[in-house]
Amino acid sequence: MTDTEHGYRLPVASRTEVRRANRELVTTDRRGTVVVLTLNCLAAAAGLAAPWLIGRIVNHVEGGDPQTSTVDMLALVIVGFAVAHVLLTRFAHYASHRFAERSLARLREEFVDRTLALPTSVVEHAGTGDLMARTTADIATVGTSLRDAAPQVFVGAVQTMFIFGAILILNPLLGLCAFLGLSLLWGAARWYLRRARDGYLAEGTANSEMSETLAATADGARTIEAFGLQRRRVGEGDARIGDAFRTRVYTLFLRSVLFPHLDFSYAAATAVVLLAGGILYINDLANLGTVIAASLYAMQLADPLNRVLMWLENLQRSTASLARIKGVAHAGGTQPPGGRPRDDRIEVTGVSYAYHSDPDRAGHRDVLHGVDLEVRPGERLAIVGPSGAGKSTLGRLLAGVDAPRTGAVTVGGVPVADLAPDELRRRIVLVTQEHHVFIGTMRDNLAIAAPGSGDHDLHAALAAVDAEWVHGLPAGLDTDLGAGGVALDAAQAQQLALARVVLADPHTVILDEATALLDPATARHAERAMGAVLAGRTVIAIAHRLHTAHYADRVAVMADGRITELGSHDELVAAGGTYAGLWRSWHGG
Ligand SMILES: Nc1ncnc2c1ncn2[C@@H]1O[C@H](COP(=O)(O)OP(=O)(O)O)[C@@H](O)[C@H]1O
Ligand SMILES: [Mg+2]
Repeated sequence: MTDTEHGYRLPVASRTEVRRANRELVTTDRRGTVVVLTLNCLAAAAGLAAPWLIGRIVNHVEGGDPQTSTVDMLALVIVGFAVAHVLLTRFAHYASHRFAERSLARLREEFVDRTLALPTSVVEHAGTGDLMARTTADIATVGTSLRDAAPQVFVGAVQTMFIFGAILILNPLLGLCAFLGLSLLWGAARWYLRRARDGYLAEGTANSEMSETLAATADGARTIEAFGLQRRRVGEGDARIGDAFRTRVYTLFLRSVLFPHLDFSYAAATAVVLLAGGILYINDLANLGTVIAASLYAMQLADPLNRVLMWLENLQRSTASLARIKGVAHAGGTQPPGGRPRDDRIEVTGVSYAYHSDPDRAGHRDVLHGVDLEVRPGERLAIVGPSGAGKSTLGRLLAGVDAPRTGAVTVGGVPVADLAPDELRRRIVLVTQEHHVFIGTMRDNLAIAAPGSGDHDLHAALAAVDAEWVHGLPAGLDTDLGAGGVALDAAQAQQLALARVVLADPHTVILDEATALLDPATARHAERAMGAVLAGRTVIAIAHRLHTAHYADRVAVMADGRITELGSHDELVAAGGTYAGLWRSWHGG
């Protein structure tokens, strides 16, 4: 992967889609949703009992009833509700977390599926940075909000409503007073929430920039010393630390304004209820128990309201993250406008290509310049040329790993880079020196080329590439490979890659120096195995060894991003150009 510093960004989902995604998160797991809601409501309700019962005790004592057993009984009931409240809260918490983890797992799986279905060119173009950020930071943010923010906001809101309901039932007038007492809170909350999102986002960005800069300075310490860049790096570090400091001071300022206002409004609400309650009590419009219960409730409002306000900001942030996660679905993956390829003909017309080309930034350095090439179905085409000529780049474009900057690379009339991965894999496969052995079983490693193929197919593919060693593996196809499992050597990894080609069964195979890293004996063996794999397919062989070119139907010579010579071996030798010269020197005269 190369283009991490790219201007291109993967798309972001719209508000409507995020709303739908939020709804889906809740509705897909209906049972879970119902359990979470019920437990949380019960827990909130159990928490309401104490003030009401205390009010009853007060009334009882005030009534001058000598019977203390009633008071004892009421006190016991209070304890009972307190225990129930604790237990229900615990179960509600547990259910919320399980619900969140299940939803998060679904979200992750969906994200991976979508990412894997993206045309390779889209992934290459977006760079790993953006995708990595979405798989890690954004999923984590949504996770926090599913696990904590959403339940806290929900529970807080339910508790607040229940508490208001309780005061209103006790005495509607006192309920109104509590509401008015809190009026200051609305203004402060609005003020805070308007600024919190940007404030915390800026703090997050400044934090990661600071750690990146400091880490880069530490990593490159020797280079920095060698080039005498200390002063500049220290200045850079100071600037980033300054940014982080400023953004933190800003969010601290936000909180330092919000919290006194909140505390004041809770106190005001309780005071107003007490005041109004006193007037009602003196005028015999309410009994003492009611007034006490109502003011206890008013005091209870602080906790859930604080929680709602604290987590609401996180919930806002998670909406932005969800938009980024869901947005991946919009990056290609749909049937290309050109439809399905009508045949196996590959055409390259007027192709220029630049690494790190940024549509917003002027200036790019083309490494391919107006390349034209038609690959005939069934032919063996060798691409030769000095290192840096652009052979590998052309190979990547032919394989649809990336799209050209100008011009077109098409198969059967359809741009190769627009094909969905499973579509592309059945047509064109690129084999390079990098052979990925994924962590997983031998079976998993093969099946990625053709999901759903049976053991018979897998063994046949392995036999086709002479991979007899599979029978020596401890658990056959179920043997774990990669970290912690069996380690394959370079030749075996290469055979694995070739077996994948057999399974994918594409009409065209592009070999980019596929055997260059193997020692000569192994390379010869691998090339024999390759013969079986390549039979009946179009083969584009990128090579520095000229003997490959000798056996090809046609040879394309590349230099400085252009195809300078194209023809059969004999034609090119007869023409007496660069190729003829190379051939003579390689052949020893
Ligand atoms: N990932 C990359 N990022 C930037 N430039 C690259 C990258 N890969 C190759 N290049 C440049 O593109 C040109 C062609 O490289 P390449 O296609 O690898 O040539 P070849 O395979 O013929 O040796 C070279 O100038 C090389 O430096
Ligand atoms: Mg190369």
